[in-house]
Formats: sequence, structure tokens, C-alpha cells
Amino acid sequence: MFKNSRIFVAGHTGLLGTALLAKLKEKGAAKIITRKHSELDLTDRGHVERFFREEKPEIVFLAAGKTGGIAASSAYPATFFHENAAMQINVIEAAQKYGVRHFVFYGSSCMYPRNSPQPIKEEYLMTGPLDEFSEAYAGAKISGVLACRAYNSQYRTNRFIAVVPNTLYGPNDHFSIENSHVFSALLRRFHEAKVLDKQEVALWGSGNPRREFIFSEDVADASIFLVENAGKLDNTHYNAGTGVDYSIRELAGIIARKIGYGGEIRWDATRPDGVSRKLLDSSRIEQLGWKPSVTIEEGLERTYKWYLENVEGAGR
Ligand SMILES: NC(=O)c1ccc[n+]([C@@H]2O[C@H](COP(=O)([O-])OP(=O)(O)OC[C@H]3O[C@@H](n4cnc5c(N)ncnc54)[C@H](OP(=O)(O)O)[C@@H]3O)[C@@H](O)[C@H]2O)c1
Repeated sequence: MFKNSRIFVAGHTGLLGTALLAKLKEKGAAKIITRKHSELDLTDRGHVERFFREEKPEIVFLAAGKTGGIAASSAYPATFFHENAAMQINVIEAAQKYGVRHFVFYGSSCMYPRNSPQPIKEEYLMTGPLDEFSEAYAGAKISGVLACRAYNSQYRTNRFIAVVPNTLYGPNDHFSIENSHVFSALLRRFHEAKVLDKQEVALWGSGNPRREFIFSEDVADASIFLVENAGKLDNTHYNAGTGVDYSIRELAGIIARKIGYGGEIRWDATRPDGVSRKLLDSSRIEQLGWKPSVTIEEGLERTYKWYLENVEGAGR
């Protein structure tokens, strides 16, 4: 299916996009189409339309998005809403208009209500209030999931696939102070503390919230699996996680040990913790036959290796 198809990986320079390129190449994909953000702004409807008309992609992975940690998404909620909503509306409509065979959209675990029972099942969507700090981003993501459902329903197809991965980590993640997520932020903080021989690292929050982390290539693998099994999918979204979560304190311990940081970790409990737990129930995709294959130890090893090799360029 992938060998001879024209495959557009939108956002190919990002964390998920680079993982998709790697996995698709493993599958023998020879006709991958990419455009940098500077070459094709997906929020621009006219450009998107022209691109689809000229390039005629057959399979599309929408791994482009306006992403960032909670500080960025709560400081710029309008930007997060607008850019994500515009990208998905433009690309989904073009995918329909130009007959794309398979389209994959990525939701996010923050789409689910902040007080969801754990683990979070797909059907908990829109059953309660969202976390206030990420609601604009989450709102855009919910509309993307609903768009996939609506296009499948109106056009009597199963071409529009919505995957909801939990928190990704891996090579090509953001490691800058202002734009990193918890995994990459911890990795950088402990690495720098080790290099500078610091005796203490101060971290935000109590360390008690629990989070589920999935290696970027596992999400790419899940996406490809869903495309391959499109004929068996219901018209709904599919969670993709590992089924294992860690407290931030446990994760900090794992990363500090791997890096070889032996100093103190001080928790600043006056800082906000966010949602107490976000563990996805991924049994729906597992029942179809998919499961993740990268352990946190292996994923951390590969991410840290990438960070060390690209450390100068990683402060993006
Ligand atoms: N990371 C996670 O934990 C996570 C979890 C769940 C879902 N997701 C979703 O998965 C998708 C990929 O996330 P990611 O972490 O891989 O993001 P990322 O590393 O920030 O990469 C985003 C990619 O999108 C491109 N991009 C951004 N705005 C664009 C625009 N207007 N036009 C064209 N390209 C644009 C970026 O290019 P530039 O860098 O050049 O701007 C980059 O290549 C996103 O939809 C995200 O919401 C991510």
C-alpha cells in the first residue's frame, strides 16, 4: 500500500513527522512528498488547495501543528486555536476534494475532560469540562476529530482517521526552555546540571501528577497500522498509548539516572501541577492487533543519544 502511493507527510521536520518518515521508509515508501513550513503554510487555504491540486497526494498524515508546553498554550490560546483549526480545516477539505485515499489526523489526550475516569476511553470525549490551561488547543483538536467523523459520515467513507496519542517524546523533540514538554525539559535540565556539576535541580510542581509517554516511532507505527486496517475501523477516534504511566517524580528519577545526574531534586509545590492523571485506554486499537514496542528505557536511550549528537541544534 505504501510503496507506490504518493504520501504527504505534513510537518515532516517535527517530532512525529520525522518518526513517520523513518517508519514509512521502513515500509518501502518511495514517493513521500514533503514541504517545509516556509514553503507551504497550511493555515493558508489557497496554498493548500493549490498544493493538493498539483501534487495529488493519495495518503496524508497531518503531523503539522502548533505545539508547545502549557506555558505557551496558555499564553497564546488564540494562536493555538487558530493555527491548529485552520490547518486541519484546510487539509481535510482538500483531502476530500482531491480524493485522498487515507487521511490521518492527530488529536491529543488534553481533548478529554480534566476529571475523566482513568484510564480514559474514547467515549469520554465531550463528557465534561476541559483543563482550563489547554482548552483552546484542545478545542481545536476536538473539532478535528469531529471533522473526521463528519467527513466519513457525509461521504460514506472510512478515509478519515483520527488518532489520539498520549504525550510523545523522541528525537527531534523541542528542547528549548520556552517550548519543551516535560520529558524533553527534564532531559535538558538534568543534562545541563550534570555538565555544570550542579548540586540541585529545582522542578515545578509536586512531582505527583501521572503521565503516559509514548515514543514517537510507536505513534508513527500506530498511524500506519490504522491506515493498513482502515477497512476495519469504526467511525470514531482511536487512542494510542502504552498503557503505563509514571509520576513526574518517577520520570525525573529515570531520566536523572540515565543521564548520570547525582545531585538533589527539589520540588516547588507552589507551582501548578495541572491535571492529576492522563492515562489512555488503548484497548480499542490493541483489539485490532496493534501494540507499542519501545520501552521507556529504550526510547530514553535513543532520545538522549539524539540530544547529545544534536545538542547545538536542539535548542529550537
Ligand atoms: N508532541 C506531543 O506530545 C503530541 C501529543 C498528541 C498529539 N500531538 C499532535 O501531533 C502533531 C505533531 O506534533 P509534534 O509534537 O510532532 O509537533 P512539532 O514537533 O512541533 O512539529 C510540528 C510540525 O508542524 C510544522 N508546522 C507548524 N505550523 C505549520 C504551518 N502553519 N504550516 C506548515 N507546517 C507547520 C512545523 O514546522 P516548523 O517547525 O518549521 O514550524 C513542524 O514540522 C500535532 O498535531 C500535535 O498537536 C502531539
